[in-house]
Amino acid sequence: MKLANLELKNPLMNASGICSFPPLLKRWEKAGVGAVVTKSIGIESNPGNQGPVLIEPYPGAVLNSMGFPNPGYEYFLEEMKEYEFDVPLITSIYGRDEYEFGFLVKKLEPISDAFELNVSCPHAKKGGYQIGFEPEILRKSLKNARTSTEKPISVKLPYYSADERKLKEVIKIIEETEMDWITEINTLRAMDYSVEIGKPIFSNKFGGQSGPTVHFCALAQVYKTRELTDLPIVASGGIASSYDVKRFFGVGADAVQLGSGLLYYKSIKDFVKKILEELKC
Ligand code: DHB
Repeated sequence: MKLANLELKNPLMNASGICSFPPLLKRWEKAGVGAVVTKSIGIESNPGNQGPVLIEPYPGAVLNSMGFPNPGYEYFLEEMKEYEFDVPLITSIYGRDEYEFGFLVKKLEPISDAFELNVSCPHAKKGGYQIGFEPEILRKSLKNARTSTEKPISVKLPYYSADERKLKEVIKIIEETEMDWITEINTLRAMDYSVEIGKPIFSNKFGGQSGPTVHFCALAQVYKTRELTDLPIVASGGIASSYDVKRFFGVGADAVQLGSGLLYYKSIKDFVKKILEELKC
């Protein structure tokens, strides 16, 4: 299939997130996905949050609060010299303001086939990451990214719930700034709380919820997005089986990303192979 100018051998990719550090991207590739997506890369290195950073307090509700662990773009460029991919590499980036997105796209262009702009982390400590809720900063960020590369750029959107006006406004900005596709949805802001210790479980208090319990929220947003635009949609949110993938295709997705559904399989290989076999692609 074709996604912007990328040729993908199938419509599966991994989701940026809990399992997308470079050695794991090699596993996704070996397992057979059509493209790989990095963990979000920022300007400075960041150790991430103190643990726990990944929990499943209720079956199907996966919560993470990793805190953007990443080596920063300079070291990431070094690290990636050790890796070669036979499938397109989509670099996920996060910026704290409109300038950082353009800067990072320019710096990471030599190793990237396409970009995914993370404007939607639901629990970042310092403001700015939730640019997906701030139309004017979003517009400037996308504009700066667009003038920094001719390679395809996607925007990873947050869950807008029933706020159709916001979704409409954001899609208009994405079209006007000539983005290549939409990836949706990022995790939903969430929290777990320990009654015994009387405190939230995560050191950052908040995390993002993924897993099967968010699948139906994602379906609703993909359906609505498809009504509003002809841009390609890469759907992400709680895929645990090929049936979930078919649901996403049914509501208008062009490709899908696999993430925390991995928890219900033996390995990345097992997860991808089963879904590819069942989809017959
Ligand atoms: C993190 C970032 C995200 O965009 C997200 O949805 C969930 C977690 C993180 O690194 O903490």
